[in-house]
Amino acid sequence: MDPPMEPLGETSLAAAQPEHDLSAVPAPPTHQEPSVPPTVTRLPPHSTGWSQDQNISVDESEDDDSAIGGFSEMTSTTSARSSVFEFVREEDGRTYHRYRQGKYMLPNDEEEQDRLNMQHQLWYMTLDGHLSLAPLNREPEHVLDIGTGTGVWAIDYALDHPTAHVTGSDLSPIQPNFVPVNCSFEVDDFEDEWAYEQKFDLIHGRLLLSCLAEPKKMFERAFASLSPGGYMEMQDCEFPAKSNDDSLPSSNLGKWYSHMVDACLKLGRDLRIVRNYKRWMEEVGFVNVEEKVFFWPVNTWPRDPHLKKLGFWYGQDLMELITGLKRPFMKGLGWTLEEVDAFHVLVKKDVMDRNVHAYHILRVVYGMKPEVTDNTLSA
Ligand SMILES: C[S@@+](CC[C@H](N)C(=O)[O-])C[C@H]1O[C@@H](n2cnc3c(N)ncnc32)[C@H](O)[C@@H]1O
Repeated sequence: MDPPMEPLGETSLAAAQPEHDLSAVPAPPTHQEPSVPPTVTRLPPHSTGWSQDQNISVDESEDDDSAIGGFSEMTSTTSARSSVFEFVREEDGRTYHRYRQGKYMLPNDEEEQDRLNMQHQLWYMTLDGHLSLAPLNREPEHVLDIGTGTGVWAIDYALDHPTAHVTGSDLSPIQPNFVPVNCSFEVDDFEDEWAYEQKFDLIHGRLLLSCLAEPKKMFERAFASLSPGGYMEMQDCEFPAKSNDDSLPSSNLGKWYSHMVDACLKLGRDLRIVRNYKRWMEEVGFVNVEEKVFFWPVNTWPRDPHLKKLGFWYGQDLMELITGLKRPFMKGLGWTLEEVDAFHVLVKKDVMDRNVHAYHILRVVYGMKPEVTDNTLSA
């Protein structure tokens, strides 16, 4: 495991104002908003990635920013579609995947699907409308999205790249039935040997930090399944969150992050792996490996309007995520459902508390399979 990261430096982000007028916070972008080709040089500063050593200035004002509004737990709508699938219902009242039962810790029901779709919009805002930052040097023919979830990234990518075929794979069959003709989904475990007939031009994986028992093996499989010159891109969220002051460690939210790391280690998953992606990609043979850093504040505490907006939406996301993460506490730490629920009430108060200056580091890491490869790796 790498040494812990350096604390953030003194540079203030307050001076690095984004080019857009973000004073009025819009609703999250819709799928109609076209995503432009991945021309990384065109991105405004907050989209090309921050330096992870930058400090995030606190908004000291009393106002909880009326333009953004307060927090409330999101409600979800129900649809008849969920009854079509057979899932496993557990003690916490949520449903989980049946294929390779027990492997993945989050539910797969309507609430979770809504969360994933909302989170997709959050990524959209974070990457300024880009689905991928990898500088592909050709129009992709075959694209793979591992752990595709509701398939929303794969569908959007297929719409943006009509000449590509996008395959999304997941343990849960929670993708829509009506999708673009150049997009398809399959139930698969990406920790099995990969048996794809074709090689891919782009392999994408997003928010898989809790899904990888043997992360480096996943990079090896992806490397072997890419065509020369093809790219792998991981978009992930570092865990646990951090703060530049004592506000997170002294909070119940800080305790929640520590408990989550411990619980998941007991269940065979190390949530702290994201900082190693770049090194692992280089070790398995990828070249031109780049890492871009972004931030998701836990609520509206930052002064920067763009980060404040991301914080608003990530706060909503985190509230739902905490609700969904009862399983690690019960199965990993042996807590009762009542104990978890009581703790989560306290934790969620901290998510809404602007005195808790917590944020996640996001890492978008991409690398290319060399045009000429070592046969042992590409076989
Ligand atoms: C946090 S969700 C992210 C979904 C999607 N990538 C996104 O960003 O919206 C992780 C997804 O990975 C899937 N998953 C976890 N372990 C997996 C495995 N071994 N094989 C295939 N899918 C897996 C889960 O079912 C879940 O849908």
